[in-house]
Amino acid sequence: MINYELGGKVAVITGGASGIGKACAHTMARSGADVSIWDLDQSALDTTLDELKQYGHRVHTAVVDVSDSTAVDDAMQSVLDELGRVDIAVANAGIGGETATSGDYSDEGWRKVIGVNLDGVMYTQRAAIRAMKKSGGGSVVNMASILGQVGFPMSSAYVAAKHGVVGMTKSAAWEHAADNIRVNSVGPGFILTPLLEKSLDRATLDFLGSQHACNRLGTPEEVAELVAWLASDAASFVTGTYYAVDGGFLAK
Ligand code: NAI
Repeated sequence: MINYELGGKVAVITGGASGIGKACAHTMARSGADVSIWDLDQSALDTTLDELKQYGHRVHTAVVDVSDSTAVDDAMQSVLDELGRVDIAVANAGIGGETATSGDYSDEGWRKVIGVNLDGVMYTQRAAIRAMKKSGGGSVVNMASILGQVGFPMSSAYVAAKHGVVGMTKSAAWEHAADNIRVNSVGPGFILTPLLEKSLDRATLDFLGSQHACNRLGTPEEVAELVAWLASDAASFVTGTYYAVDGGFLAK
């Protein structure tokens, strides 16, 4: 396993109690970081906290709805109070949301997905940038998707939010390079996490796996490897990019 040499750094990971976010928390804590995981789900946070203790670094948790900007700002302040600084922020929390055609998509469904998957990333990125400026810089990794590059049926709000994340990342990278803050986005292919497992049957999961050149779904850990590298000093000349970790999905 690669050690990304994150000792002395503090990482905030939203949606850190499940799936990709949880894998990022493990990879970063294993690599020496103190981690703060934010999520809606208190009991999943407690379970993840217990798991992360094995690495011997500090772990902080916060129940946060990332679509609430005040809650995000309060949580970032609690990280500064408890862990002293913020060096890495992974704006990962996200939902699948309503599935409907663009002709039928509801106002409520649209606002819900945009609220979590786009507003939530913006609020987290903004709070992280403010915190990072206090300690001389950092690395923001925004969780996009292959659906930040291409369309997908029945998911217009999700696709719009993820394309928005990719664009927002590019602007922030230009604006904050002089603050020594790098901002990148990551685009996973279909990854076997509770997000998919809760809503799709086996046949659909198999079909989605077959749409990747690697002919399978990805794992959360495979995404976390890329996120941890982008967060690390090894990626010091990497900013404003979109990196796919998609088993070849976009190479069609
Ligand atoms: P997941 O459902 O396993 O984990 C998401 C976590 O975010 C959950 O613990 C959930 O409680 C939390 N969360 C949801 N809404 C929240 C909110 N408003 N505030 C705070 N926390 C909230 O999902 P998964 O698959 O790990 O997804 C993580 C990210 O990766 C999402 O942004 C998703 O769009 C993205 N992604 C996932 C893919 C997949 O195939 N699983 C593919 C591409 C991107």
